[in-house]
Amino acid sequence: MTEHVKTELDGGVLTVTLARADKKNALTDAMYGALADALDRAESDAAVRVVLLQGDGDSFTAGNDLADFAAQSTGSFKGEKQVFRFLRSLAKATRPIVAAVQGNAVGVGTTMLLHCDLVYLADTARLLTPFVNLALVPEAASSLLLPARVGHARAYAMFALGEPVDGATAVNIGLANAVVPAAELRARARAAAEALAKRPLGALAHTKGLMRDRERIAEQMSREGVIFQERLKTAEAREAFAAFAERRQPDFSKVVG
Ligand code: COA
Repeated sequence: MTEHVKTELDGGVLTVTLARADKKNALTDAMYGALADALDRAESDAAVRVVLLQGDGDSFTAGNDLADFAAQSTGSFKGEKQVFRFLRSLAKATRPIVAAVQGNAVGVGTTMLLHCDLVYLADTARLLTPFVNLALVPEAASSLLLPARVGHARAYAMFALGEPVDGATAVNIGLANAVVPAAELRARARAAAEALAKRPLGALAHTKGLMRDRERIAEQMSREGVIFQERLKTAEAREAFAAFAERRQPDFSKVVG
């Protein structure tokens, strides 16, 4: 349990809100656990027809908590790696997932959108997947799903250069449905979720299943996961995490591997 993820069921829509605004909704192990619980509940509770993901504050999420990554890189991490549960639940989900994204959506904040069915962006949205800057590799099957969606060139620039994508571009390249003024974001996403809640659940589930190769997605997540876990323990990654904590640019010139 964590107070940093709030859930509310209303009219068939399970709204899941990231609520750690002072840390830009950076995701801790406990938060991944709560997100996985919410997605699992959506599958088993007949009252849930749609999941709506949103974040409090000015950022959707700054991605994985970098202090957790730093602890994982030195072996002092005490969590349970709930992130894997979350990613598996996301990959398996049959209920439609709608996302409302404002400000920064970093790392998994963007890659989770590749598993959402409708994505609405505020005009402040900035999608970022700077895995290589952190000496890491893409996750959440994004190494498969992002190039499939936006092409290799754009996906590579996002992964390797950490090139940000603004709202209008995200819509143009097929990462999102629409950009709206920030003040209207939640209402727009809520309206879409309510519209889906009125659609026949069985037809929605089959449509989603037909549009996603879940086996291939799970396989890619496993491949990524092995390399990601190895990368976390490298000198390169330790330098990247130390640089973030010390608010400086990383220097990879003296570290290899
Ligand atoms: N993990 C842990 N804490 C984070 C965080 C993260 N991923 N992202 C932001 N925070 C914390 C900051 O340390 C800061 O904490 P403090 O107030 O105690 O110093 C607080 O959230 C606000 O962040 P700040 O960097 O001051 O906000 P900003 O508006 O200038 O920048 C971001 C926002 C998201 C661009 C910037 O915080 C960032 O780049 N974060 C790291 C993103 C990242 O690399 N995630 C991992 C992806 S795999």
